[in-house]
Amino acid sequence: MTLNPKMTFCKKCPVARFCITISLQSGVFAVIISGKNMKISHISKHPNAIPIIANWIVDEWGDTAPGVNFKNITTSLKREIIENKIPKTFIAFEKDRYLGTASIFENDMSTRPELTPWLAAVYVDSKYRNKGVGSELVKFVMNEAKSLDLKKLYLWTANKMNFYQNLDWKFFERTNFLNKDVTIMIYEF
Ligand SMILES: CC(C)(COP(=O)(O)OP(=O)(O)OC[C@H]1O[C@@H](n2cnc3c(N)ncnc32)[C@H](O)[C@@H]1OP(=O)(O)O)[C@@H](O)C(=O)NCCC(=O)NCCS
Repeated sequence: MTLNPKMTFCKKCPVARFCITISLQSGVFAVIISGKNMKISHISKHPNAIPIIANWIVDEWGDTAPGVNFKNITTSLKREIIENKIPKTFIAFEKDRYLGTASIFENDMSTRPELTPWLAAVYVDSKYRNKGVGSELVKFVMNEAKSLDLKKLYLWTANKMNFYQNLDWKFFERTNFLNKDVTIMIYEF
């Protein structure tokens, strides 16, 4: 039996986020530590995360959204570091691991330019999903938006309405975007 010091999040832990679990799996002794040490920052404090975020976004939306490619995203994220204004992108991390990202955009739906601003590009690395990281990211961005004195945020989603409803987002309207039926949701501060 080998001691595997690799740290990861607890799965289905009843005291998720504040526990330490020892698990015995396939002869590997793993120390599992929950998201106790997760932090969220603006990417200006983590420029090394820029290519990682760009790859996440391209993997998830590169096929569907026009202009979503590695070069455009890295250029836009690098610009964010210099310009202190929206768009604003945040990164969730634990020690040296990047877990996920979320942003505030002026617009995230070219067909509805009158709706602004948006919670956008919410993404958690598949290894860390269903452990509360996405919810913490969304709540963090909502607090940031409030501190920027924004009065509301919109988002669009094809299939994650429940996730956002659980975070107090409300239905706004159904529409078609990028050849998909999607729901626009709203959060008012
Ligand atoms: C959507 C997404 C960001 C959610 O991230 P996540 O880290 O898995 O989110 P959470 O863990 O906070 O919540 C996901 C689910 O796990 C549940 N959960 C949260 N903490 C948990 C825990 N400790 N143990 C078990 N389940 C947990 C939540 O209740 C939630 O359930 P629901 O979907 O039925 O509401 C992620 O799935 C993702 O990146 N998907 C691909 C990109 C995408 O679709 N982005 C959203 C665009 S609108």
